[in-house]
Amino acid sequence: MDWKKEIQILEETLEQLKARYADRIDLKTLEELRVKFLGKKGPIKALFDFLKIAPKDEKRELGQAVNRIKGLFESWIVEMRQSLEYHEEEIRDLTVPSRLPSLGHRHIITQTIDEITSVFKGLGFAIATGPEIEQEYYNFTALNIDITHPSRDAFDTFYLKIPPDKKKGKFLLRSHTSPMQVRIMEAISPPVAAIVPGRVYRPDAVDASHSFMFHQIEGFLVDKAVKFSHLKGVLLEFARRYFYEDVKLRFRPHYFPFTEPSAEVDISCQLCKGEGCSACKQTGWIEVLGCGMIHPNVFKHLPSEYEGYTGFAFGMGVERLCMLKYGIPDIRLFYSNDLRFLSQF
Ligand code: DAH
Repeated sequence: MDWKKEIQILEETLEQLKARYADRIDLKTLEELRVKFLGKKGPIKALFDFLKIAPKDEKRELGQAVNRIKGLFESWIVEMRQSLEYHEEEIRDLTVPSRLPSLGHRHIITQTIDEITSVFKGLGFAIATGPEIEQEYYNFTALNIDITHPSRDAFDTFYLKIPPDKKKGKFLLRSHTSPMQVRIMEAISPPVAAIVPGRVYRPDAVDASHSFMFHQIEGFLVDKAVKFSHLKGVLLEFARRYFYEDVKLRFRPHYFPFTEPSAEVDISCQLCKGEGCSACKQTGWIEVLGCGMIHPNVFKHLPSEYEGYTGFAFGMGVERLCMLKYGIPDIRLFYSNDLRFLSQF
């Protein structure tokens, strides 16, 4: 065996391999090359076999040469494998889609408020907000809620331990958004149409349908010769847009101190189309809001420029409307910050 020639060929082959795979090699090819050159049937093993039977005077030189060429192949393979792994890591970092930060979104109550107010905005109503800390005068007196009315009781309203105002009475957390009727009309000349979303507070025990804090939307419109039929038209349009297109409304006579006449409004049950089902307690109707024509006694508290005007008002609970629309069974779900619930919307 001309082992010197063999080793020279191997050296040249290695140089060729280095040149050929300088840029890129895949693991499979690299492994194939390792087996081909360093494996049991490879040329280097053959040289070692030959070493055993080589003439004594050549053994030393041959041994060194074979070990050297074996080392060269081995270190090239190790080097290539390392660069490949490094490369793969680099590629992994660059191409695997990174985990996106989870984006938040508006709370379903905020979404519902936006949805409802935008319907009224489309009907020409202005959107206003007011103070959550109110005064007796705006929350009750100006709204014709008599001093003996039970809602003025401390059991039904959160009074604040702040010295009362001489003219406007005690400070409290507003129990409804209706006070903004008077505040807005004190500030703005008629005609006026406004919608007022916001938080309200009542010392109710918390259960599936009650909370000490919830959201209401008050709406009212005051102009010359406003009639109950205008109220019906506006509310029907709202119900069509917020609930469903062919919804029907039912106005049931009711009592509110600040409206006369007053009504509670039901929508036809969408599930059973009025047939009666568990969602509507077999009645075919679902109560959604209160409304009426603004009481003359409320007008008495308004600036004199409101003389000769009439108007309607309505008030609705945001949580209630949202629960009806989506079939949400418990008001507490809105406030418990459980993402399994909130991320559905
Ligand atoms: N303020 C009433 C409440 O909190 C809701 C309401 C009913 C508002 C009738 C109105 C109305 O403007 O006309 O229960």
